[in-house]
Amino acid sequence: MSLLEIRNLRTHLAVPGGIARAVDGVDLDLGEGGTVGVVGESGSGKTLLALSILGLPPGGPDQIIDGSSIRYRGEELVGVGNKRLREIRGGEIAMIFQEPMTSLNPVFTVGDQVRESVGLHTSLRGRAGKEEVVRLLGEVGIPDPSARMRDYPHQFSGGMRQRVMIAMALAGKPSLLIADEPTTALDVTIEAQILDLIKETQTRLGMGLLLISHDLRTVSKVCERLVVLYAGRVVESGPTAEVLASPKHPYTRGLMGSRLSMDDRRKSLRPIPGEVPEATSWPRGCRFHPRCGEMIPRCRTREPDLLPLEAAAPDSGGAVGPTTGVRKARCWLLGETGGGA
Ligand SMILES: Nc1ncnc2c1ncn2[C@@H]1O[C@H](COP(=O)(O)OP(=O)(O)O)[C@@H](O)[C@H]1O
Ligand SMILES: [Mg+2]
Repeated sequence: MSLLEIRNLRTHLAVPGGIARAVDGVDLDLGEGGTVGVVGESGSGKTLLALSILGLPPGGPDQIIDGSSIRYRGEELVGVGNKRLREIRGGEIAMIFQEPMTSLNPVFTVGDQVRESVGLHTSLRGRAGKEEVVRLLGEVGIPDPSARMRDYPHQFSGGMRQRVMIAMALAGKPSLLIADEPTTALDVTIEAQILDLIKETQTRLGMGLLLISHDLRTVSKVCERLVVLYAGRVVESGPTAEVLASPKHPYTRGLMGSRLSMDDRRKSLRPIPGEVPEATSWPRGCRFHPRCGEMIPRCRTREPDLLPLEAAAPDSGGAVGPTTGVRKARCWLLGETGGGA
């Protein structure tokens, strides 16, 4: 059974300028123990997608539009009550965020905060609870955990704080971990260590992982599959190796260009001109067309569907069969059927 099956997810927020259609028809599949990376620039809708899964969009679960479906192990989460959502959060699905300092309370020790998660999600109390805190802190690579648990968050480095957040997320033994830009606030060396920790933990515990980042390089390192999000929509998805080997959407190619320019810090090249538009006013036609260097007239007026690539790319050995339909893209350049190209 699939762990997470999202269909036509739309999360719209009432904002001063109108309605922000921040998540606007997203499909996403994640198998048990699988890893999916969600990538897109800031403003693409990544965080709202993650918060919607937990029933936590700003303004509450009612911001998720009727007809949206989020199935967790077959159970529909859209419209499920708050009581069930609270059980799901932490116990079934846990989330870690970009900035661990804002999620940790500065006036409590690290140990107290991990202890609270343990208390919330397990029946371990007293001495057993404390031992579990030490075990969790050790599990995420904090040296000398029984001493360090008495420290306060500000006594930890950014990387160590993110390890604490991961320990808190693991307290409920979740089957799905959602990590939203977990390394964006960290420097490059620490980023690699935290990504290794996330990947190693995911594999060892057999958790599903939804890793969100604006950086294609980050998600590609860890995830088997990629979902490229632009303007609240999926524009491309598929196995990571295939997407990287032959990106089908000009936006994906743009993100790959950003990646190259980041590796070469001497260039301040911006391969995708302009910015993600406001979610209150997505462009008509293909939402990417105003920024696209490969636009054709049709892109301005009609939005292409997200379609399976019917013919396998020649560089994948021409294999067609069970994997057909796994790889999808939303672009007129691929033709009416989406195939070939
Ligand atoms: N709390 C909020 N209130 C109003 N608009 C929001 C809020 N959060 C996000 N948005 C809007 O929704 C869109 C998607 O935001 P977000 O999901 O945070 O994107 P990402 O995580 O990809 O950067 C943006 O246009 C943003 O301005
Ligand atoms: Mg975000």
